[in-house]
Parts: sequence; structure tokens; C-alpha cells
Amino acid sequence: MKKPSNPFIISGYLGPSYFCDRKEETKSIRSAVENGRNLTLLSLRRMGKTGLIKHSFQQLKSKKINLIYVDLLHTTDLSTMVKEFAKATVNQLSLGVMKISLQKITTLFSGLYPTFTIDPLSGSPSVEFDIHKVKQGAKTLEEIFTLLEKHTAHVIVAFDEFQIITSYPEKNVEAILRSHIQHLNNVSFIYSGSQKHIISSMFGDAKRPFYQSTQFLSLEPIHTKEYHAFISSHFKNAGIEIAKGDVDFLLDWTHHHTFYVQYFCNRLFDLKVTDPNTTVFHVIDKIFQENEAVFTSYRTLLTSQQSHLLTSVAKEGWVHQPTSKDFLSKYRLTSSAIQRTLPALIQKEFLTREERGYRVYDVFLGRWLAEKF
Ligand SMILES: Nc1ncnc2c1ncn2[C@@H]1O[C@H](COP(=O)(O)OP(=O)(O)OP(=O)(O)O)[C@@H](O)[C@H]1O
Ligand SMILES: [Mg+2]
Repeated sequence: MKKPSNPFIISGYLGPSYFCDRKEETKSIRSAVENGRNLTLLSLRRMGKTGLIKHSFQQLKSKKINLIYVDLLHTTDLSTMVKEFAKATVNQLSLGVMKISLQKITTLFSGLYPTFTIDPLSGSPSVEFDIHKVKQGAKTLEEIFTLLEKHTAHVIVAFDEFQIITSYPEKNVEAILRSHIQHLNNVSFIYSGSQKHIISSMFGDAKRPFYQSTQFLSLEPIHTKEYHAFISSHFKNAGIEIAKGDVDFLLDWTHHHTFYVQYFCNRLFDLKVTDPNTTVFHVIDKIFQENEAVFTSYRTLLTSQQSHLLTSVAKEGWVHQPTSKDFLSKYRLTSSAIQRTLPALIQKEFLTREERGYRVYDVFLGRWLAEKF
């Protein structure tokens, strides 16, 4: 794998050297899929679900298991979902351990019209489907599952951003998928999502098709000790000095939220390469400057009451009980105003509710509000 110039990556997965910890979680995923249990991976946005799936796949690669990763993020209906699923499946089956010929695959799907392309650099074949030609979504879905079932090899399918299927115009997608999935013995599924209430209700409501069909894995922030060691060692390997106090500070400032930690370290690394005297405060200035316009526009999306509550939570960092006397009097809020505005801020994902209390979902926005207002 190509070595990145900055070891703190902020998109994608580049291998175990650039991936911090998650040993227990990787073990749980491995144990689940190897023992025929399906798994639901849940976390806040940008905590590292996709990275963990990719990392687990990397660890399972040697085991001759077919790994199919389906990103549902940009799907809008059954037909676009089937297109993504078919693309991931066909590419894996033709290139992975099954090595089915591409010609054979075309004859297996009656509803799909694939176009084969060859990557000019790697020479690897790849398949695309024209969306307009993906008719009869339910039928093609059945064909994909039949194809998977016919194979004796173990297959793992990861559906990333799975909650999206509940927003499709077709109302029966959950039931259709479940009816296929429950008959497969050689295929394990990983479902991942960040909208906790939707995922919890999909898998925890007795009236829903996926009720109690999976093991839950909740992805929490990476532990301080592990993240500290990871950050320090990457700076050290590059010959850049970083004080222990700075690492403690940045982990706390980013609430240990993976993407924000990675982004902070990426900027700090970048700045320190040219100026070793750069401090964490220079990074904060940069982050605030760059995001000022976006953060200001966010505020225009909110009513003045919502904006006031959001800023009040931002100043506190964490608010365990928003209707407590102390919080209300400190920020001149009323309990009825909280009851009106809090649900909207959660629904719009400006605030998140964790065990420790409420906090601003976007860490940088929260820090900016706390400092500027
Ligand atoms: N264990 C890790 N060590 C280092 N970087 C990580 C780790 N996990 C994730 N990242 C990085 O953090 C960022 C966010 O991770 P990722 O995209 O996996 O989160 P996600 O939960 O899937 O987010 P979303 O909800 O937006 O899909 C990415 O840049 C990823 O490379
Ligand atoms: Mg993701």
C-alpha cells in the first residue's frame, strides 16, 4: 500500500499502520461472522464505522472469504440499491476468491445490463450498471441472493448506512431483504448505521422484519491510552516532536471523536513539518477560519431560541440535565423553551445525546460557538 505523506488520514482506509486500535471491535466482528451471527454496527457519524468494516475485511482477507462491501449512502430507492449491491457482488465474485467469469455473470442476471471496464493503470476488470437499465429491482435482488446462495464459499456482505433503506419510496424493502437473508446459510451480514433511533427500531421493534436478527456492536470513542500512543508514535516516526500535554489537550478538545482527532492531527502534522514551533492553538485558529462561513450559515438555519440553546450547550461542553436549575439560570433559559427546542436540535443533528449528556454533534462547530459567542 502506498505510504501517505501525512499519516493521519481523514478519508478511506489505508491499512493497519494508519488505523488506531479497535482490536476488541475487530475481534467481535470476526467472531460474529465466523460463527454465523449477523451484526449491526452503530455509532455517531464519523466515529469510524466504515474504517472498522474495511479494517475487519483486511484482517479476514487471508481466510478465503468473499467480502462484499455495499455503500448505500447515495442510494435513493430499491433500484439504486440493487445497482450498488449488484456492482459490489459482481466485482467481488469475478475478482475475489470465487473467480467466476464475467461472461457467466451476465447470463445470471436477467434484469441487469452491465458494462465492463478495464482499469487502465491496474489492468483490473470492473463492472458498472446503467441505472436506467436496472428494471425489476425485486427480481434482480432475488437473482443476486440466489447467486450468493449457490456458492459454498463463505460470503460476508456489509451494508454501510443501512438505515437509508427506510427512506426509499418502496415501503417493503425491509421485508423483501429479510425474506431473502433468512434463508442463506453461507452468508453473514454486517449492517452499519449512524441514525441510532432508526437502526434501533429496525432491529429492536418486534413488528419489524429485522427484529432481533443481529448482534449489536456500538462503536465508542477510541481509548485515550491507545490514541495517545498512536498519535505520539506517528509524530515520532516522522522526526517531529510533540509534547504529551498537546496530545492530551487535542484529544480532549475533539472529545476523542475519531474524525475530529484525525483532522486535528493531520493539520498539526502538516503545519509542524514547515514550522516546528506550531502549537495546537495555531491549528484551532486554522479550523475556525476555514469553517467560519459554513458555521455562520448553520446559525441562519435555526430559530433564535434554538441557536441560544445550541450555544449554551456548546459553552458547557456536556450537559447532563438541560432542565436543571443551574443550567436554566446560567443561560437564562426556561424549561418550556428547552422542551420546544431540544427535540428539533436533536432531530436536525445539531445536538447528540450520549450517556454523559448532550453535546454539539459537530465537534468543531461546538468549539467555535463556545469561543465566539
Ligand atoms: N481506528 C481508526 N484510526 C485512525 N483513523 C480512523 C479510525 N477509524 C476511522 N478513522 C478515520 O476517521 C474518519 C471517520 O471514519 P469513518 O468514515 O470510518 O467513520 P463513519 O462512522 O463511517 O462515518 P460516517 O457516519 O460519516 O459514515 C475517516 O477519515 C477514517 O479514515
Ligand atoms: Mg461511514
